[in-house]
This record gives sequence, C-alpha cells and structure tokens, in this order.
Amino acid sequence: MLKFNSVSRIYNDGTRAVDNVSLHVKKGEFCVLLGPSGAGKTTLMNMVNGVVVPSSGHLVIGGVELSRKTRSTIQRKVGMIHQQLHLVPRLSVLHNVLTGRLPQVGFWRSLLKSFPRKDQRRACQLLQEVGLEEKHLYRRASTLSGGQQQRVAIARAFHSEPEVVLADEPVASLDPAMSRSVLDSLKSAARQHEATVVCTLHQMEYALEFADRIVALRQGQVFFDGHPNAMDETTQAELYELAKPDHLKQVAA
Ligand SMILES: Nc1ncnc2c1ncn2[C@@H]1O[C@H](COP(=O)(O)OP(=O)(O)OP(=O)(O)O)[C@@H](O)[C@H]1O
Ligand SMILES: [Mg+2]
Repeated sequence: MLKFNSVSRIYNDGTRAVDNVSLHVKKGEFCVLLGPSGAGKTTLMNMVNGVVVPSSGHLVIGGVELSRKTRSTIQRKVGMIHQQLHLVPRLSVLHNVLTGRLPQVGFWRSLLKSFPRKDQRRACQLLQEVGLEEKHLYRRASTLSGGQQQRVAIARAFHSEPEVVLADEPVASLDPAMSRSVLDSLKSAARQHEATVVCTLHQMEYALEFADRIVALRQGQVFFDGHPNAMDETTQAELYELAKPDHLKQVAA
C-alpha cells in the first residue's frame, strides 16, 4: 500500500531528517513509527501526504507513484489526525467531522452547512463507531474533553473514505487510560474501513500493544522494522528510553 524506495529528505539548512529509508507498509497494517524527538517521524509521514517532498528516492502509494502530477489524487486517499487536533472549536462536533469531506463538497457548501444527506449519515455513523453519543453531535467541539475531541478527529479523518490514515502523536496529550481507548478506536475504525494506518507514538508500551508493525527510527534511519514480537529484549529496552518524549527523559535523569 505504501512503498518508500530509498527515500531521503535534506532540509535547506542541511539537516538530513530522513536518510535513505526503504519501507513497505502493507494494506490494512497498523504501523507505528517510534524514535526520539528529531528522528524524522513527522518528516517521513508528511511525505505521504505530499506536504514534504523527498530530496531523493520515491514513494508509491496505492500503486501510484507520488509526483507533482499525482499529488492531489493521492492526498484524497489520505486522512490525517494531528496531536493538535485542528478541530474548529466554534463548530459543532458533526460539522467538524463533515469538514473531512471539504475537498469533495467544496468550501461554500461547507460554509452553508449544506452537506449531502449521505455525508451527514456517514458522519453520524463514524461518530457512533468511535464512541461518541447523540447528545455530543451538536455541541461545540471546544466543549468536549481531550479524548472526545481526538475521537472527533478520528471520525473526520475517516469521513473521506481514506485508504491511508496518518496519525502524528494522536495521544500525546492524553492520560494512559484515554490514550489506550483512543488508540483502540483508531485501530477498530481502520479495521472496519480497511484503511492502512501510520501512527507516530512516543510510548513503546502502546506500540507493543497496538502495532502490527513497528518501524523505529534514529537520526533519519530505520534501525528496527518488524512485528512487535520480533523485537529482541535489548532493542525493546533501548526503545523504551529512546522513544520517550524529551520532557520525560529529563524527569527521569
Ligand atoms: N522545515 C524544516 N526545516 C529544517 N529542519 C527541519 C524542518 N522540519 C524538521 N526539521 C528537522 O528535521 C529533523 C526531523 O524532524 P521531525 O519533525 O521529522 O522529527 P520527529 O521524529 O517527528 O520529532 P518529534 O518526535 O519531536 O516530533 C529534526 O532535526 C528537525 O529539526
Ligand atoms: Mg514529530
């Protein structure tokens, strides 16, 4: 589904954020990217949605090679979930999910909130799937808890029927119980809608719990790629420390 062939990205200031990465993420896989801050996780992910252009190598997404010509077609196949959510706080929960349809529906219709009936039905269905209740639909997004807002973001990402969903630290600001529950919702939505997920995390324990595949990065290079069970204890112990967010490392020190 996702192929990275010898992909590198060197930023203008000379930072080699991604260094000769080759990966093949299979259809339907829940692939977790792990690694310390600055390892290149976000850069790698942002190449899939065309936000970051590789300096060398190439990507093939759903059988189509990513290029300037194919970029917008590919972007339509990709859903995004961010740590900072990017929900519109003033808008209702339902309207936020419907904005996932914006590329298809168009800006003016969206502004007038005149989304086709089937889009509205799908939004309600998705919200139900991720565990939100009817009473939440017309509440302003800003009045929901962090975990509930993250579920809205998941529903929105799946609304455009994506083949690939990219989730960049989707549980970074949540407590452990809520993080597990949100990752669970993400994983079951992916299974239900047959989507491939690439998700960055800083917690090794969640990666072991949820990933079908772990890709560990250090200084832009892959140093582990495989099923969580295939990881030896030394690598596991190393990754527990390495993947932690920087502020927790400082606390531990
Ligand atoms: N636009 C940019 N210009 C220059 N350097 C950049 C740019 N974006 C990222 N970098 C650098 O590229 C490297 C990889 O960054 P990236 O954001 O991909 O890391 P990350 O693994 O997502 O880190 P984190 O866990 O902190 O989110 C870092 O050294 C970063 O400073
Ligand atoms: Mg990042």
